[in-house]
Amino acid sequence: MSAVIRGTGSSLPESKLTNADLERMLDTSDEWIVVRTGIRERCVLEADQATSDMATRAAQQALDMAGATPDDVDLIVVATISPDMLTPSTANLVQRNLRIGRPIPSFDLNAAFSGFIYGLEVVNTLLASGSYRRALLIGAETLTRFVDYQDRQVCVLFGDGAGAVLLEVEEGEGDVLATTLKADPGSSDLIRIPGGAAARPASPYTLTQREQFLRMEERQLFKLAVQALEQVAQDTLDKVGWRIEDVDHLIVHQANRRILNAVADRLGVPSEKVPTNLARTGNISAASIPVLLDECQRAARFRPGDRIIAVAFGSGLTWAGCALRWSLDVPPFA
Ligand code: ACO
Repeated sequence: MSAVIRGTGSSLPESKLTNADLERMLDTSDEWIVVRTGIRERCVLEADQATSDMATRAAQQALDMAGATPDDVDLIVVATISPDMLTPSTANLVQRNLRIGRPIPSFDLNAAFSGFIYGLEVVNTLLASGSYRRALLIGAETLTRFVDYQDRQVCVLFGDGAGAVLLEVEEGEGDVLATTLKADPGSSDLIRIPGGAAARPASPYTLTQREQFLRMEERQLFKLAVQALEQVAQDTLDKVGWRIEDVDHLIVHQANRRILNAVADRLGVPSEKVPTNLARTGNISAASIPVLLDECQRAARFRPGDRIIAVAFGSGLTWAGCALRWSLDVPPFA
């Protein structure tokens, strides 16, 4: 028994923060941002909404693609580092928004930018156990609420969005052929939000120090990200027994155009096999991979039988890879 992907969905806010907008807010330039990162704009969630609202819309799209209803769902997992609140979980709120009548389990998973691939392993294992039939796995983030618009190194990078897949258990091999999950907390200081939780509860002091915002050591992360993403792709290929030439699509967590290019070059994958939406989305953390999967599916870029390697890297430090055999049909009229 293992899981197949029956539907995908995504939700990106309509409101955009462009590089030109940032030029008016900060000492930065469109040229600096595009050359260093490849990002041109990011989506910003409306002020009266939160992560669970985008997550619900992405989930509903995945259900619609699968021809399923909320009552068909037995399990909800949301990968996020920007939940609506510390508790209840964002997954609980999605369950409420979808008006699921039964008390199915729902919970959040925090593995930062690698959260969607960690979630795939968790959901695949739970479905294979036979206890659940269908699960929603969602990556959803509202990072524009956790970046400091006085910190030009960090704020240009991040945006908001959500992506979802509906997985169903089936006899046989399934779509998730291998996963590789890694963490090295020895470098946990390199990306963090220091204040606002149990270690440093919000106080006038933490707010003055702007501890509620994301901090990053970008130069070190850049090098570590390239090495880790290449290695985890290779480890995942070895597990599944594919050569890199066998892979139809390499999906790399959308953090930085130069990181994407470096990973693809080191692995020897041509750019036409490396989809990207980074220029429009910025880094959307755990939402990055499921949003890109959904966009590729809806654009008929994926075909049934395609071999996909997806890799991610982020705070923790965490990194992860998965090998997927895509089985969803091409959308009608594509
Ligand atoms: N606009 C203008 N200038 C900026 C900005 C900005 N938004 N942010 C930083 N700078 C300045 C710095 O203050 C520094 O100025 P200084 O030299 O006067 O001190 C300079 O730009 C540093 O940038 P570079 O000249 O490119 O330095 P370097 O070649 O060492 O590169 C780095 C550093 C971190 C690789 C940077 O260029 C870069 O690519 N930034 C984007 C970081 C990124 O995408 N990180 C992703 C991390 S991995 C992950 O998220 C999974």
